[in-house]
Amino acid sequence: MLGRRQVLTAGGAALVAALSPSPVRAAPHTDPFTLGVASGDPLPEGVVLWTRLAPQPHEPAAGLPKADYPVKWQVAEDDGFTRVVKDGTATAAAAYGHSVHVDVRGLQPARDYFYRFRTDRHVSPAGRTRTAPARTASPERLRFAIASCQNYTDGWFTAHRHLAAEDLDVLFFLGDYIYEGAVTSRGGDRDDASLRLPDTFELTTDTLDLYRMRYALYRTDPDLQAAHAAVPWALTWDDHEVQDNYAAGVPRFEVPPVDFLVHRANAYRAYWENMPLRRPRRPAGPDMPLYRRLRFGDLAHAYVLDTRQYRSDQACGDGIRAACPERDQPGRTLLGPGQRKWLVDGMARSGARWNLLAQQVMMAECRYGGEAGRLDMDKWDGYPADRAAILGAAARVPGTVVLTGDIHFNYAADLRADFARPDTPPVAVELVGTSITSGGDGLDVVPKLQQQQRSSPHLRFTNGQRGYVRCELTRDTLRADFRVLSHVTRPGSPITTRATFVSERARPGLVPA
Ligand SMILES: [Fe+2]
Repeated sequence: MLGRRQVLTAGGAALVAALSPSPVRAAPHTDPFTLGVASGDPLPEGVVLWTRLAPQPHEPAAGLPKADYPVKWQVAEDDGFTRVVKDGTATAAAAYGHSVHVDVRGLQPARDYFYRFRTDRHVSPAGRTRTAPARTASPERLRFAIASCQNYTDGWFTAHRHLAAEDLDVLFFLGDYIYEGAVTSRGGDRDDASLRLPDTFELTTDTLDLYRMRYALYRTDPDLQAAHAAVPWALTWDDHEVQDNYAAGVPRFEVPPVDFLVHRANAYRAYWENMPLRRPRRPAGPDMPLYRRLRFGDLAHAYVLDTRQYRSDQACGDGIRAACPERDQPGRTLLGPGQRKWLVDGMARSGARWNLLAQQVMMAECRYGGEAGRLDMDKWDGYPADRAAILGAAARVPGTVVLTGDIHFNYAADLRADFARPDTPPVAVELVGTSITSGGDGLDVVPKLQQQQRSSPHLRFTNGQRGYVRCELTRDTLRADFRVLSHVTRPGSPITTRATFVSERARPGLVPA
Protein backbone atom coordinates (compact mmCIF):
# COMPACT_ATOMS: atom_id res chain seq x y z
CA MET A 1 0.00 0.00 0.00
CA LEU A 2 1.12 3.58 0.24
CA GLY A 3 3.30 2.96 3.30
CA ARG A 4 1.34 5.25 5.54
CA ARG A 5 -2.36 5.76 5.74
CA GLN A 6 -3.41 8.67 3.61
CA VAL A 7 -4.52 11.35 6.03
CA LEU A 8 -4.51 14.86 4.66
CA THR A 9 -3.21 17.25 7.31
CA ALA A 10 -4.93 20.56 7.86
CA GLY A 11 -1.86 22.30 6.45
CA GLY A 12 -1.91 20.18 3.31
CA ALA A 13 -5.59 20.81 2.78
CA ALA A 14 -5.09 24.54 3.18
CA LEU A 15 -2.28 24.51 0.63
CA VAL A 16 -4.32 22.65 -1.98
CA ALA A 17 -7.29 24.91 -1.35
CA ALA A 18 -5.13 27.99 -1.80
CA LEU A 19 -4.08 26.78 -5.25
CA SER A 20 -7.60 26.03 -6.35
CA PRO A 21 -10.95 27.75 -6.41
CA SER A 22 -12.82 24.55 -5.55
CA PRO A 23 -13.23 23.08 -2.09
CA VAL A 24 -11.15 20.00 -1.32
CA ARG A 25 -12.91 16.79 -0.41
CA ALA A 26 -11.29 13.80 1.25
CA ALA A 27 -12.38 11.15 -1.24
CA PRO A 28 -15.40 9.97 -3.24
CA HIS A 29 -17.43 7.28 -1.50
CA THR A 30 -17.42 4.76 -4.34
CA ASP A 31 -14.46 3.56 -6.41
CA PRO A 32 -13.30 6.58 -8.46
CA PHE A 33 -10.77 4.63 -10.58
CA THR A 34 -13.28 3.30 -13.14
CA LEU A 35 -11.30 4.75 -16.07
CA GLY A 36 -8.03 2.97 -15.34
CA VAL A 37 -4.57 4.46 -15.51
CA ALA A 38 -2.18 5.49 -18.27
CA SER A 39 1.35 6.69 -18.92
CA GLY A 40 2.80 8.56 -21.84
CA ASP A 41 5.51 10.58 -23.59
CA PRO A 42 8.48 8.70 -22.11
CA LEU A 43 11.70 10.62 -21.47
CA PRO A 44 15.02 9.13 -20.32
CA GLU A 45 14.38 10.51 -16.83
CA GLY A 46 10.61 10.32 -16.57
CA VAL A 47 7.14 9.72 -17.85
CA VAL A 48 3.65 11.25 -17.49
CA LEU A 49 1.20 9.33 -15.34
CA TRP A 50 -2.53 9.81 -15.79
CA THR A 51 -5.80 8.92 -14.18
CA ARG A 52 -9.17 10.58 -13.77
CA LEU A 53 -11.66 10.24 -10.94
CA ALA A 54 -15.03 9.06 -12.21
CA PRO A 55 -17.18 7.16 -9.71
CA GLN A 56 -20.18 7.44 -12.08
CA PRO A 57 -18.56 7.45 -15.54
CA HIS A 58 -21.84 7.74 -17.50
CA GLU A 59 -23.04 10.78 -15.54
CA PRO A 60 -22.23 14.46 -16.10
CA ALA A 61 -19.13 15.39 -14.05
CA ALA A 62 -18.75 11.63 -13.54
CA GLY A 63 -20.93 11.89 -10.45
CA LEU A 64 -18.55 14.22 -8.56
CA PRO A 65 -19.33 17.59 -6.98
CA LYS A 66 -17.39 20.68 -7.98
CA ALA A 67 -14.57 19.94 -5.55
CA ASP A 68 -10.89 19.10 -5.87
CA TYR A 69 -9.45 15.87 -4.51
CA PRO A 70 -5.93 14.99 -3.41
CA VAL A 71 -4.66 11.87 -5.17
CA LYS A 72 -1.55 10.05 -4.00
CA TRP A 73 0.72 8.37 -6.54
CA GLN A 74 3.59 5.92 -6.38
CA VAL A 75 6.23 4.68 -8.82
CA ALA A 76 7.99 1.42 -7.98
CA GLU A 77 10.56 -0.89 -9.52
CA ASP A 78 8.41 -3.96 -8.87
CA ASP A 79 4.75 -4.75 -9.42
CA GLY A 80 4.38 -5.58 -5.73
CA PHE A 81 5.36 -1.97 -4.89
CA THR A 82 7.97 -3.09 -2.37
CA ARG A 83 10.64 -0.85 -3.95
CA VAL A 84 8.95 2.55 -4.31
CA VAL A 85 11.31 5.07 -5.94
CA LYS A 86 9.03 8.12 -6.28
CA ASP A 87 5.77 9.19 -4.69
CA GLY A 88 3.73 12.30 -4.11
CA THR A 89 0.30 13.88 -4.04
CA ALA A 90 -1.42 15.45 -7.02
CA THR A 91 -4.73 17.29 -7.27
CA ALA A 92 -7.69 16.04 -9.28
CA ALA A 93 -9.19 19.44 -10.07
CA ALA A 94 -12.87 19.81 -10.93
CA ALA A 95 -11.85 22.48 -13.46
CA TYR A 96 -10.01 19.77 -15.42
CA GLY A 97 -12.62 17.03 -15.17
CA HIS A 98 -10.96 15.54 -12.06
CA SER A 99 -8.06 14.38 -14.19
CA VAL A 100 -4.60 13.79 -12.72
CA HIS A 101 -1.38 14.39 -14.67
CA VAL A 102 1.87 13.62 -12.87
CA ASP A 103 5.09 14.53 -14.68
CA VAL A 104 7.42 12.14 -12.86
CA ARG A 105 11.15 12.88 -13.13
CA GLY A 106 14.29 11.40 -11.57
CA LEU A 107 13.83 7.88 -12.99
CA GLN A 108 16.49 5.75 -14.69
CA PRO A 109 16.58 5.48 -18.51
CA ALA A 110 15.33 2.44 -20.43
CA ARG A 111 13.74 0.86 -17.37
CA ASP A 112 10.39 -0.66 -16.54
CA TYR A 113 8.42 0.92 -13.69
CA PHE A 114 5.06 0.29 -12.08
CA TYR A 115 2.69 2.98 -10.85
CA ARG A 116 -0.66 3.42 -9.12
CA PHE A 117 -2.86 6.05 -7.52
CA ARG A 118 -4.84 6.25 -4.30
CA THR A 119 -7.56 8.37 -2.78
CA ASP A 120 -8.22 7.50 0.83
CA ARG A 121 -9.25 3.83 0.81
CA HIS A 122 -9.49 3.46 -2.98
CA VAL A 123 -6.43 2.17 -4.83
CA SER A 124 -6.23 2.26 -8.61
CA PRO A 125 -5.17 -0.65 -10.80
CA ALA A 126 -1.40 -0.70 -11.31
CA GLY A 127 0.17 0.28 -14.61
CA ARG A 128 3.49 -0.62 -16.13
CA THR A 129 5.56 1.89 -18.03
CA ARG A 130 9.04 2.22 -19.50
CA THR A 131 11.38 5.20 -19.70
CA ALA A 132 13.18 6.11 -22.92
CA PRO A 133 16.88 5.29 -23.41
CA ALA A 134 19.45 7.89 -22.36
CA ARG A 135 19.96 10.67 -24.92
CA THR A 136 23.57 9.54 -25.47
CA ALA A 137 22.69 5.82 -25.67
CA SER A 138 22.93 3.78 -28.86
CA PRO A 139 20.13 1.23 -28.39
CA GLU A 140 20.14 -1.89 -30.53
CA ARG A 141 16.37 -1.95 -30.94
CA LEU A 142 13.09 -0.13 -30.42
CA ARG A 143 9.82 -2.00 -30.36
CA PHE A 144 6.66 -0.03 -30.98
CA ALA A 145 3.20 -0.32 -32.45
CA ILE A 146 0.87 2.06 -34.24
CA ALA A 147 -2.87 2.10 -33.60
CA SER A 148 -5.72 4.43 -34.52
CA CYS A 149 -9.45 4.83 -35.10
CA GLN A 150 -11.45 3.16 -32.35
CA ASN A 151 -15.08 3.93 -32.96
CA TYR A 152 -16.79 2.49 -29.88
CA THR A 153 -20.00 1.76 -31.78
CA ASP A 154 -18.23 -0.27 -34.50
CA GLY A 155 -17.03 -3.10 -32.30
CA TRP A 156 -14.99 -4.43 -29.41
CA PHE A 157 -11.50 -3.22 -28.51
CA THR A 158 -10.06 -6.75 -28.75
CA ALA A 159 -7.02 -5.38 -30.59
CA HIS A 160 -6.10 -3.48 -27.41
CA ARG A 161 -6.18 -6.70 -25.41
CA HIS A 162 -3.62 -8.12 -27.84
CA LEU A 163 -1.58 -4.90 -27.83
CA ALA A 164 -1.31 -5.18 -24.06
CA ALA A 165 0.36 -8.58 -24.49
CA GLU A 166 2.99 -7.33 -26.95
CA ASP A 167 6.44 -6.43 -25.63
CA LEU A 168 6.59 -2.75 -26.64
CA ASP A 169 8.67 0.26 -25.63
CA VAL A 170 6.00 2.71 -26.76
CA LEU A 171 2.66 2.79 -28.57
CA PHE A 172 1.93 5.56 -31.06
CA PHE A 173 -1.78 6.34 -31.22
CA LEU A 174 -2.43 8.25 -34.43
CA GLY A 175 -5.87 9.71 -33.93
CA ASP A 176 -9.62 9.12 -33.78
CA TYR A 177 -9.43 8.08 -30.14
CA ILE A 178 -13.12 8.97 -29.86
CA TYR A 179 -15.83 9.55 -32.45
CA GLU A 180 -18.23 12.43 -32.05
CA GLY A 181 -21.45 10.80 -33.30
CA ALA A 182 -24.34 9.20 -31.43
CA VAL A 183 -23.81 6.13 -29.22
CA THR A 184 -26.98 4.11 -28.67
CA SER A 185 -27.78 2.65 -25.26
CA ARG A 186 -26.13 -0.74 -26.01
CA GLY A 187 -23.12 0.79 -27.77
CA GLY A 188 -24.15 0.51 -31.43
CA ASP A 189 -22.83 -2.60 -33.20
CA ARG A 190 -21.32 -3.83 -29.95
CA ASP A 191 -24.91 -4.50 -28.88
CA ASP A 192 -23.57 -4.91 -25.35
CA ALA A 193 -26.41 -6.33 -23.23
CA SER A 194 -24.60 -5.24 -20.05
CA LEU A 195 -24.62 -1.60 -21.17
CA ARG A 196 -27.50 0.84 -20.64
CA LEU A 197 -26.25 4.26 -21.62
CA PRO A 198 -28.36 7.34 -20.92
CA ASP A 199 -29.86 9.23 -23.86
CA THR A 200 -27.22 11.96 -23.53
CA PHE A 201 -24.85 9.67 -25.44
CA GLU A 202 -27.08 10.05 -28.49
CA LEU A 203 -26.03 13.70 -28.69
CA THR A 204 -23.17 14.60 -31.00
CA THR A 205 -20.36 15.91 -28.82
CA ASP A 206 -19.81 19.66 -28.74
CA THR A 207 -19.92 20.80 -25.12
CA LEU A 208 -17.16 20.13 -22.60
CA ASP A 209 -19.49 17.92 -20.55
CA LEU A 210 -20.40 15.78 -23.57
CA TYR A 211 -16.75 15.34 -24.56
CA ARG A 212 -15.82 14.42 -20.99
CA MET A 213 -18.59 11.82 -20.89
CA ARG A 214 -17.52 10.42 -24.27
CA TYR A 215 -13.92 9.93 -23.09
CA ALA A 216 -15.22 8.36 -19.88
CA LEU A 217 -17.29 5.87 -21.90
CA TYR A 218 -14.30 4.83 -24.00
CA ARG A 219 -12.01 4.60 -20.99
CA THR A 220 -14.34 2.22 -19.13
CA ASP A 221 -13.49 -0.42 -21.74
CA PRO A 222 -11.31 -3.06 -20.02
CA ASP A 223 -9.29 -3.89 -23.16
CA LEU A 224 -8.43 -0.24 -23.75
CA GLN A 225 -7.51 0.08 -20.07
CA ALA A 226 -5.22 -2.94 -20.41
CA ALA A 227 -3.33 -1.40 -23.33
CA HIS A 228 -2.89 1.88 -21.46
CA ALA A 229 -1.72 0.06 -18.35
CA ALA A 230 0.83 -2.03 -20.28
CA VAL A 231 2.92 0.51 -22.19
CA PRO A 232 3.45 4.28 -22.44
CA TRP A 233 1.49 5.90 -25.26
CA ALA A 234 2.51 8.82 -27.45
CA LEU A 235 -0.72 10.23 -28.79
CA THR A 236 -1.85 12.60 -31.43
CA TRP A 237 -5.34 13.34 -32.64
CA ASP A 238 -7.04 13.36 -36.01
CA ASP A 239 -10.42 14.88 -36.88
CA HIS A 240 -13.00 12.89 -34.89
CA GLU A 241 -11.69 14.13 -31.55
CA VAL A 242 -13.37 17.36 -32.70
CA GLN A 243 -15.48 16.84 -35.85
CA ASP A 244 -15.20 14.83 -39.07
CA ASN A 245 -12.78 16.42 -41.59
CA TYR A 246 -12.51 19.80 -39.86
CA ALA A 247 -9.60 21.96 -41.01
CA ALA A 248 -8.11 24.39 -38.47
CA GLY A 249 -10.99 26.86 -37.89
CA VAL A 250 -13.21 25.52 -40.67
CA PRO A 251 -16.02 23.20 -39.52
CA ARG A 252 -17.74 20.51 -41.52
CA PHE A 253 -21.06 22.33 -41.27
CA GLU A 254 -21.90 26.00 -41.73
CA VAL A 255 -21.79 27.64 -38.31
CA PRO A 256 -20.40 31.03 -37.28
CA PRO A 257 -16.59 30.73 -37.04
CA VAL A 258 -16.52 31.77 -33.39
CA ASP A 259 -19.03 29.04 -32.52
CA PHE A 260 -16.75 26.44 -34.05
CA LEU A 261 -13.78 27.76 -32.09
CA VAL A 262 -15.76 27.32 -28.86
CA HIS A 263 -16.55 23.77 -29.98
CA ARG A 264 -12.87 23.16 -30.76
CA ALA A 265 -11.82 24.60 -27.39
CA ASN A 266 -14.16 22.16 -25.62
CA ALA A 267 -12.80 19.24 -27.63
CA TYR A 268 -9.14 20.15 -27.11
CA ARG A 269 -9.62 20.71 -23.41
CA ALA A 270 -11.29 17.32 -22.93
CA TYR A 271 -8.51 15.74 -25.01
CA TRP A 272 -5.83 17.17 -22.73
CA GLU A 273 -7.74 16.17 -19.62
CA ASN A 274 -8.04 12.58 -20.78
CA MET A 275 -4.57 11.88 -22.17
CA PRO A 276 -1.17 11.33 -20.54
CA LEU A 277 0.28 14.61 -21.81
CA ARG A 278 2.64 17.09 -20.16
CA ARG A 279 1.63 20.53 -18.93
CA PRO A 280 3.09 22.38 -21.95
CA ARG A 281 0.50 20.59 -24.10
CA ARG A 282 -2.40 22.02 -22.08
CA PRO A 283 -4.66 24.11 -24.32
CA ALA A 284 -5.41 27.80 -24.01
CA GLY A 285 -8.88 28.33 -25.42
CA PRO A 286 -9.07 26.81 -28.93
CA ASP A 287 -5.29 26.40 -29.24
CA MET A 288 -3.36 23.34 -28.11
CA PRO A 289 0.34 22.89 -28.90
CA LEU A 290 0.33 19.13 -29.52
CA TYR A 291 3.21 18.52 -31.94
CA ARG A 292 6.42 17.46 -30.23
CA ARG A 293 9.51 15.26 -30.47
CA LEU A 294 10.38 12.17 -28.44
CA ARG A 295 13.91 10.73 -28.55
CA PHE A 296 14.98 7.10 -28.16
CA GLY A 297 18.74 7.55 -27.82
CA ASP A 298 20.43 7.89 -31.20
CA LEU A 299 18.33 5.06 -32.64
CA ALA A 300 15.12 6.96 -33.35
CA HIS A 301 13.58 10.37 -32.98
CA ALA A 302 9.80 10.45 -33.18
CA TYR A 303 8.07 13.56 -34.48
CA VAL A 304 4.48 13.46 -33.27
CA LEU A 305 2.63 15.68 -35.73
CA ASP A 306 -0.66 17.58 -35.81
CA THR A 307 -2.10 17.80 -39.33
CA ARG A 308 -5.49 19.22 -38.21
CA GLN A 309 -4.99 22.41 -36.21
CA TYR A 310 -2.98 24.45 -38.71
CA ARG A 311 -4.07 23.15 -42.11
CA SER A 312 -5.56 25.10 -44.99
CA ASP A 313 -9.13 24.18 -45.81
CA GLN A 314 -9.40 21.11 -48.06
CA ALA A 315 -9.00 21.98 -51.75
CA CYS A 316 -11.42 21.47 -54.62
CA GLY A 317 -14.46 21.10 -52.34
CA ASP A 318 -12.95 18.30 -50.17
CA GLY A 319 -13.69 14.61 -50.66
CA ILE A 320 -12.30 12.29 -53.34
CA ARG A 321 -12.00 14.37 -56.49
CA ALA A 322 -10.03 15.07 -59.61
CA ALA A 323 -7.33 17.60 -58.77
CA CYS A 324 -8.23 21.23 -59.47
CA PRO A 325 -5.87 24.25 -59.64
CA GLU A 326 -6.65 25.22 -56.03
CA ARG A 327 -4.78 22.13 -54.82
CA ASP A 328 -1.47 23.47 -56.16
CA GLN A 329 -1.82 27.02 -54.85
CA PRO A 330 1.35 28.14 -53.09
CA GLY A 331 0.79 28.87 -49.44
CA ARG A 332 -1.67 26.01 -48.92
CA THR A 333 -0.38 23.92 -46.04
CA LEU A 334 -1.16 20.77 -44.07
CA LEU A 335 1.29 21.35 -41.19
CA GLY A 336 1.25 25.14 -40.97
CA PRO A 337 4.48 27.09 -41.53
CA GLY A 338 5.75 26.81 -37.94
CA GLN A 339 5.35 23.04 -37.64
CA ARG A 340 6.71 22.48 -41.14
CA LYS A 341 9.91 24.43 -40.43
CA TRP A 342 10.32 22.70 -37.05
CA LEU A 343 9.97 19.29 -38.71
CA VAL A 344 12.22 19.92 -41.71
CA ASP A 345 14.92 21.51 -39.50
CA GLY A 346 14.61 18.71 -36.95
CA MET A 347 14.94 15.96 -39.55
CA ALA A 348 18.00 17.66 -41.07
CA ARG A 349 19.75 18.02 -37.71
CA SER A 350 18.52 14.93 -35.86
CA GLY A 351 21.59 12.71 -36.17
CA ALA A 352 19.38 9.73 -35.27
CA ARG A 353 19.46 6.49 -37.27
CA TRP A 354 15.72 6.78 -37.88
CA ASN A 355 13.20 9.60 -37.95
CA LEU A 356 9.64 8.47 -37.24
CA LEU A 357 6.81 10.76 -38.34
CA ALA A 358 3.83 9.76 -36.18
CA GLN A 359 0.90 11.46 -37.87
CA GLN A 360 -2.63 11.11 -39.18
CA VAL A 361 -3.31 11.08 -42.91
CA MET A 362 -1.83 9.07 -45.77
CA MET A 363 1.25 10.63 -47.36
CA ALA A 364 1.69 8.28 -50.33
CA GLU A 365 -0.17 9.24 -53.48
CA CYS A 366 -3.33 7.16 -53.68
CA ARG A 367 -5.39 7.27 -56.88
CA TYR A 368 -9.03 6.28 -56.50
CA GLY A 369 -9.83 5.45 -60.10
CA GLY A 370 -11.99 7.36 -62.53
CA GLU A 371 -10.62 9.08 -65.61
CA ALA A 372 -8.36 11.62 -63.96
CA GLY A 373 -7.34 9.29 -61.12
CA ARG A 374 -9.18 11.02 -58.30
CA LEU A 375 -7.35 11.98 -55.09
CA ASP A 376 -8.51 12.35 -51.47
CA MET A 377 -8.30 16.08 -50.71
CA ASP A 378 -8.20 15.47 -46.93
CA LYS A 379 -4.85 13.61 -47.19
CA TRP A 380 -1.32 14.75 -48.16
CA ASP A 381 -2.58 14.28 -51.75
CA GLY A 382 -4.51 17.52 -51.18
CA TYR A 383 -1.40 19.34 -49.92
CA PRO A 384 1.39 18.62 -52.43
CA ALA A 385 3.60 21.57 -51.40
CA ASP A 386 4.04 20.34 -47.82
CA ARG A 387 4.53 16.76 -49.03
CA ALA A 388 7.29 17.87 -51.38
CA ALA A 389 9.00 19.74 -48.52
CA ILE A 390 8.93 16.72 -46.18
CA LEU A 391 9.97 14.19 -48.82
CA GLY A 392 12.70 16.60 -49.91
CA ALA A 393 14.01 16.57 -46.35
CA ALA A 394 13.70 12.77 -46.25
CA ALA A 395 15.76 12.48 -49.45
CA ARG A 396 18.66 14.22 -47.70
CA VAL A 397 18.58 12.13 -44.47
CA PRO A 398 18.27 8.33 -44.50
CA GLY A 399 15.84 6.50 -42.22
CA THR A 400 12.50 8.31 -42.52
CA VAL A 401 9.45 6.21 -41.63
CA VAL A 402 5.99 7.77 -41.88
CA LEU A 403 3.39 6.26 -39.53
CA THR A 404 -0.23 6.86 -40.46
CA GLY A 405 -3.80 6.15 -39.33
CA ASP A 406 -7.14 7.61 -40.47
CA ILE A 407 -8.37 5.43 -43.32
CA HIS A 408 -9.17 2.12 -41.62
CA PHE A 409 -7.01 0.09 -44.03
CA ASN A 410 -3.51 -1.35 -43.89
CA TYR A 411 -1.05 -0.16 -46.54
CA ALA A 412 2.69 -0.65 -46.97
CA ALA A 413 3.86 2.18 -49.22
CA ASP A 414 7.14 3.39 -50.67
CA LEU A 415 7.46 7.18 -50.72
CA ARG A 416 9.03 8.78 -53.78
CA ALA A 417 9.89 12.39 -54.48
CA ASP A 418 7.85 11.95 -57.69
CA PHE A 419 5.19 9.23 -57.56
CA ALA A 420 4.90 9.37 -61.37
CA ARG A 421 8.46 8.02 -61.62
CA PRO A 422 8.35 4.42 -60.35
CA ASP A 423 11.83 3.94 -61.80
CA THR A 424 13.30 6.28 -59.14
CA PRO A 425 14.37 4.92 -55.73
CA PRO A 426 12.09 5.55 -52.74
CA VAL A 427 13.27 8.23 -50.28
CA ALA A 428 11.23 6.91 -47.33
CA VAL A 429 8.57 4.37 -46.43
CA GLU A 430 5.07 4.67 -44.99
CA LEU A 431 3.17 2.24 -42.80
CA VAL A 432 -0.57 2.95 -42.77
CA GLY A 433 -2.16 1.12 -39.87
CA THR A 434 -5.74 -0.08 -40.00
CA SER A 435 -8.32 0.79 -37.36
CA ILE A 436 -8.89 -0.79 -33.97
CA THR A 437 -12.63 -1.04 -34.75
CA SER A 438 -13.76 1.66 -37.18
CA GLY A 439 -15.47 0.18 -40.22
CA GLY A 440 -16.53 -3.02 -38.46
CA ASP A 441 -15.24 -6.53 -39.13
CA GLY A 442 -13.57 -5.71 -42.46
CA LEU A 443 -12.16 -7.93 -45.20
CA ASP A 444 -8.73 -9.22 -46.12
CA VAL A 445 -9.14 -8.43 -49.81
CA VAL A 446 -10.86 -5.16 -50.72
CA PRO A 447 -11.45 -4.61 -54.46
CA LYS A 448 -11.01 -0.82 -54.18
CA LEU A 449 -7.60 -1.29 -52.56
CA GLN A 450 -6.53 -3.85 -55.13
CA GLN A 451 -7.43 -1.46 -57.90
CA GLN A 452 -5.33 1.26 -56.20
CA GLN A 453 -2.38 -1.12 -56.00
CA ARG A 454 -2.67 -1.90 -59.71
CA SER A 455 -2.50 1.79 -60.64
CA SER A 456 0.13 2.71 -58.01
CA PRO A 457 3.22 0.48 -57.93
CA HIS A 458 4.50 2.21 -54.76
CA LEU A 459 1.61 0.62 -52.81
CA ARG A 460 3.21 -2.69 -51.86
CA PHE A 461 0.46 -4.16 -49.71
CA THR A 462 -3.16 -3.51 -48.79
CA ASN A 463 -5.59 -5.15 -46.39
CA GLY A 464 -8.98 -4.25 -44.94
CA GLN A 465 -9.08 -6.07 -41.61
CA ARG A 466 -8.93 -4.54 -38.11
CA GLY A 467 -5.86 -4.54 -35.87
CA TYR A 468 -2.56 -2.67 -35.59
CA VAL A 469 1.01 -2.64 -36.90
CA ARG A 470 3.81 -3.94 -34.66
CA CYS A 471 7.28 -2.67 -35.54
CA GLU A 472 10.86 -3.30 -34.59
CA LEU A 473 13.67 -0.92 -35.45
CA THR A 474 17.27 -2.05 -35.30
CA ARG A 475 20.30 0.01 -36.31
CA ASP A 476 19.84 -0.80 -40.01
CA THR A 477 16.42 -2.40 -40.49
CA LEU A 478 12.74 -1.64 -39.97
CA ARG A 479 10.47 -4.65 -39.59
CA ALA A 480 6.68 -4.27 -39.60
CA ASP A 481 4.11 -6.95 -38.78
CA PHE A 482 0.53 -6.23 -39.87
CA ARG A 483 -1.48 -7.82 -37.05
CA VAL A 484 -5.13 -8.50 -37.89
CA LEU A 485 -8.30 -9.75 -36.20
CA SER A 486 -10.93 -11.98 -37.76
CA HIS A 487 -13.80 -9.89 -36.33
CA VAL A 488 -14.66 -7.05 -33.94
CA THR A 489 -18.48 -7.06 -33.80
CA ARG A 490 -18.19 -9.95 -31.32
CA PRO A 491 -15.55 -10.03 -28.59
CA GLY A 492 -12.64 -12.45 -28.37
CA SER A 493 -11.06 -12.58 -31.83
CA PRO A 494 -7.60 -14.15 -31.98
CA ILE A 495 -4.86 -12.15 -33.70
CA THR A 496 -2.58 -13.21 -36.52
CA THR A 497 0.24 -11.66 -38.51
CA ARG A 498 -1.20 -11.10 -41.98
CA ALA A 499 2.03 -9.83 -43.57
CA THR A 500 5.55 -8.78 -42.60
CA PHE A 501 7.60 -6.18 -44.45
CA VAL A 502 11.14 -4.95 -43.95
CA SER A 503 12.99 -1.86 -45.16
CA GLU A 504 16.71 -1.13 -44.97
CA ARG A 505 17.77 2.26 -43.66
CA ALA A 506 20.40 2.68 -46.35
CA ARG A 507 18.05 1.58 -49.15
CA PRO A 508 14.45 2.46 -48.34
CA GLY A 509 11.71 0.31 -49.82
CA LEU A 510 9.29 -2.13 -48.21
CA VAL A 511 9.80 -5.76 -49.21
CA PRO A 512 7.99 -8.86 -47.89
CA ALA A 513 10.01 -10.64 -45.20
FE1 LIG B 1 -11.02 7.09 -38.24
